[in-house]
Amino acid sequence: MRPFLAANPATGKVPRMSFHVITQAPARLNRSELAVPGSAPQMFEKAAQSDADVIFLDLEDAVAPDDKAQARKNIIKALNEIDWGKKTMSVRINGLDTHYMYRDVVDVVEEAGERLDLIMIPKVGTAADVYAVDMMVTQIEDAKGLKKRIGFEHIIETALGMQNVTAIAGASKRNESLHFGVADYAASTRARTTIIGGVNPDYSVLTDPLADGSRAVHWGDMWHYALARMVVAARANGLRPVDGPFGDFSDPDGYRAAAKRAAVLGCEGKWAIHPSQIALANEVMSPSDAEVTRAQRILEAMEKAATEGKGAVSLDGRLIDYASIRQAEVLVQKARQIAGG
Ligand code: GLV
Ligand code: MG
Repeated sequence: MRPFLAANPATGKVPRMSFHVITQAPARLNRSELAVPGSAPQMFEKAAQSDADVIFLDLEDAVAPDDKAQARKNIIKALNEIDWGKKTMSVRINGLDTHYMYRDVVDVVEEAGERLDLIMIPKVGTAADVYAVDMMVTQIEDAKGLKKRIGFEHIIETALGMQNVTAIAGASKRNESLHFGVADYAASTRARTTIIGGVNPDYSVLTDPLADGSRAVHWGDMWHYALARMVVAARANGLRPVDGPFGDFSDPDGYRAAAKRAAVLGCEGKWAIHPSQIALANEVMSPSDAEVTRAQRILEAMEKAATEGKGAVSLDGRLIDYASIRQAEVLVQKARQIAGG
């Protein structure tokens, strides 16, 4: 099926919904993003063989202060020596408020910049934080003559980062994705939770009495606003929104539910903090066959409608129009990307 609205046949231009042009980050599959501590090199080979789309080797919160220097060495060696196949490789550096960060950037980019695709910046708070890392990486790339430009993924996980999320999203041409770091976000906003990415029964609605006098409790998603806000900032700047960790790796149903909520809001992927979460993320973040088939039927129906000079028609008793085409194309393009990847 040819993309129906991809280009206006009269002008050859792709519709962009505003006169403003949003430059899209390089297209990468980012359904699952596996976190691997840099201090655990015994896990590297298994990670390389996994089905994760993206792997981030961690120098930050999974690594104890005394292990930081060794973790850096492990990561440099692993990036240079392990066959990571076509995986997108990232390194999570330490925050700009630590004295580890400059050496993370200098050592990793100088010594393993060829195989590094992305740098993940945690606790990013302002656009100036992005600028600072961009300046360092640019100097190192130039000095080393690196051909490929390293991209940035930012973890939005502080109140400051969320306040400035729009400026952060637009702060560098290297930006590729925004990630919701729910654990640090909860700490920063002093949310009443200690479970990474879980829900809280206190965040609920009590219904008025039902016919039998009982009252139902509807649990809410306390992370909805933050995630939705981050998705908007990411998409308005051509970046991939990605949902962060779900700590209870013995609760696949809870993970799946959280991933589905994120996918429904527009996220492209979710972190896996345990290998068992990779398949769950890949499954939830890939459109189902039924969704793709329906999207293709919408495109066919609208193509027929266009030949009949109609802008809106009904399909299976529901209205579809030009906005339906755009939604359907997103799904079909994602399915193609997965099939090709
Ligand atoms: C991730 O870094 C988080 O804090 O959730
Ligand atoms: Mg964090």
